[in-house]
Amino acid sequence: MMRGTPITEQLHEYIAQTFAPEDALLQSMPADAARQGVPMIHIDATQGRFLQLLMRACRAKRVLEIGSLFGYSAIWMARALPVDGTLHALEINPLHVKLIRENVMRAGLAEKVTVVEGDAAQTLPALKVHAPFDFAFVDADKLGYVDYFEGVMPLLRTGGVIVADNMSAGGKVWNAAEANERNNVTTMRALNERIARHPRLTSLLVPIGDGMCVGVVE
Ligand SMILES: C[S@@+](CC[C@H](N)C(=O)[O-])C[C@H]1O[C@@H](n2cnc3c(N)ncnc32)[C@H](O)[C@@H]1O
Repeated sequence: MMRGTPITEQLHEYIAQTFAPEDALLQSMPADAARQGVPMIHIDATQGRFLQLLMRACRAKRVLEIGSLFGYSAIWMARALPVDGTLHALEINPLHVKLIRENVMRAGLAEKVTVVEGDAAQTLPALKVHAPFDFAFVDADKLGYVDYFEGVMPLLRTGGVIVADNMSAGGKVWNAAEANERNNVTTMRALNERIARHPRLTSLLVPIGDGMCVGVVE
């Protein structure tokens, strides 16, 4: 039997409006990006607030994001950085890179955010020079998730936090029978298992958005 309170549309709206109100910039960004044909696959405001909360809890100063789309989550995170904090945003799509740079500029965060253009599988190893990182958010192509996780873990400090999005795989992750090569269920099940059993992580799949798996590094 499920315990706890189901999240209704009204409850979600209440949480969003009370704890995660968007300013004019955050509100306008999705529509601007949609006009240029960018898919609407960014996190929602409550997830943005959740990332900020986790960052503040671990006093994150050096942050890494894999998969930034048009910069929505990056702006939420960059706003939770201290004055001398930095965020490296790894993004493969040149149009997305352009939009991230524009939006970060509009947010007045250009000094804090460095956009690293290219395939994260290629660009991630070079970020070792900026390690240790305090916080990492993985939100790129799902098939690369396990490799990103393995690449990011050695770059995180003790007490740092790793977050991976879409770890509920559209609500299907619990169902082994759904796992096949055409969907993300197989990958998400494998990575959830890995994170849950990882000797350096205290972790949980948090049912926010499409599921954010959060691990604190020991
Ligand atoms: C779900 S979207 C990111 C959403 C963003 N984190 C947000 O919530 O605002 C995934 C992004 O990952 C990018 N991406 C896909 N494969 C990638 C790769 N190999 N390296 C870097 N970025 C990649 C896509 O171009 C897309 O912009």
